[in-house]
Amino acid sequence: MAKVKILVTGGLGFIGSHTVVELIQSGFEPVIVDDLSNSELFILDRIEQITGSRPEFYPYDVCDPEKLRAVFTENKEIKACIHFAAKKAVGESMEIPLTYYRVNLVSLLTVLDIMKEFEVGNFVFSSSATVYGQPEHLPVNELSPLQKSLSSYGSTKQMAEDILEKVSETGWLKVLSLRYFNPVGAHKSSLIGELPKGIPSNLMPYITQTAIGIREKLTIFGDDYNTPDGTCIRDYIHVADLAKAHVNACNYLLTRTDTSPYDVFNIGTGTGNSVLEIVKTFEKVNQVEVPYITGSRRSGDVESIYAGCTKANKILKWEAQYTLEDMVKDAWNWEKSYRKQIK
Ligand code: UD1
Repeated sequence: MAKVKILVTGGLGFIGSHTVVELIQSGFEPVIVDDLSNSELFILDRIEQITGSRPEFYPYDVCDPEKLRAVFTENKEIKACIHFAAKKAVGESMEIPLTYYRVNLVSLLTVLDIMKEFEVGNFVFSSSATVYGQPEHLPVNELSPLQKSLSSYGSTKQMAEDILEKVSETGWLKVLSLRYFNPVGAHKSSLIGELPKGIPSNLMPYITQTAIGIREKLTIFGDDYNTPDGTCIRDYIHVADLAKAHVNACNYLLTRTDTSPYDVFNIGTGTGNSVLEIVKTFEKVNQVEVPYITGSRRSGDVESIYAGCTKANKILKWEAQYTLEDMVKDAWNWEKSYRKQIK
């Protein structure tokens, strides 16, 4: 029997590539569309090395309807789309907001238009915990009110969720919006991982690059928060666990007929860790020093957030498996193996 094809936009990126691996290993046939604007072609070879199968790949911009139409025409077996392709740097989004709104919203609308044309009605969306702002109660669950976003990036995620909910009400589209907490780590093989361009803005790649000597020291953004050690708390989740959540989401959309047209799920571990705990765990597990200083707070940071994931546990039958120790170990192994390879 022909395998079910899943369109994966942004499938060579950090979360996309791990999801492609999990999809292949779960018997799906991913079809990748990725314009390589924030990813590298060699990741395709690595996916093949890990899985023994080279997914179909189109180096297209998903904002181009003609190109996307060609992908659907050539892949009639596409039954669902996982839409990762988007711009994602919070700081940059404040400098070039128009680009963020244009890219993140036009890509979404274009994918939806073409899916409708080809009568493909299952959609998994990459949303973010950022939609909650600083929640009043922790852990935050899917019923918690959303707060006006501080960044243009966050605002595109809120708008996209809104668009998807409204479109799903018209009847042809079923959507699962996955609100990711903080994805870190890398595939166990160290063949794929996070590839930030330039100076990393996220914590884990900054730590790994500091540990390996590319950055002189990490700056911890604020130690005067109202938390046990004064540093911010986040829910870090292993990217392989996050990838599996997408496979479960696809299975759910493709097998259930009694579902509501639009639903949202938190995807995290349910545990909060402080920045200092991450640094200390990284040093201890990997036996490597991470020089750091404490600086002022970063504007836009919330003090504390971690996920209530019982909804995903129950409905998607998904639960994070990896520990914080696994996350810091895999992130470090990937950094070392990547640097060795580009030397
Ligand atoms: C951010 C975004 C989130 C996005 C995620 C992944 C917001 C508010 N957050 O999450 O939407 O999905 O990135 O791209 O929109 N830190 C340091 N030093 C550093 C870097 C970070 O101390 O050099 C601290 C931060 O202050 C924060 C924690 O580490 O407390 C995590 O930061 P980061 O990895 O950037 O993720 P978030 O800001 O939580």
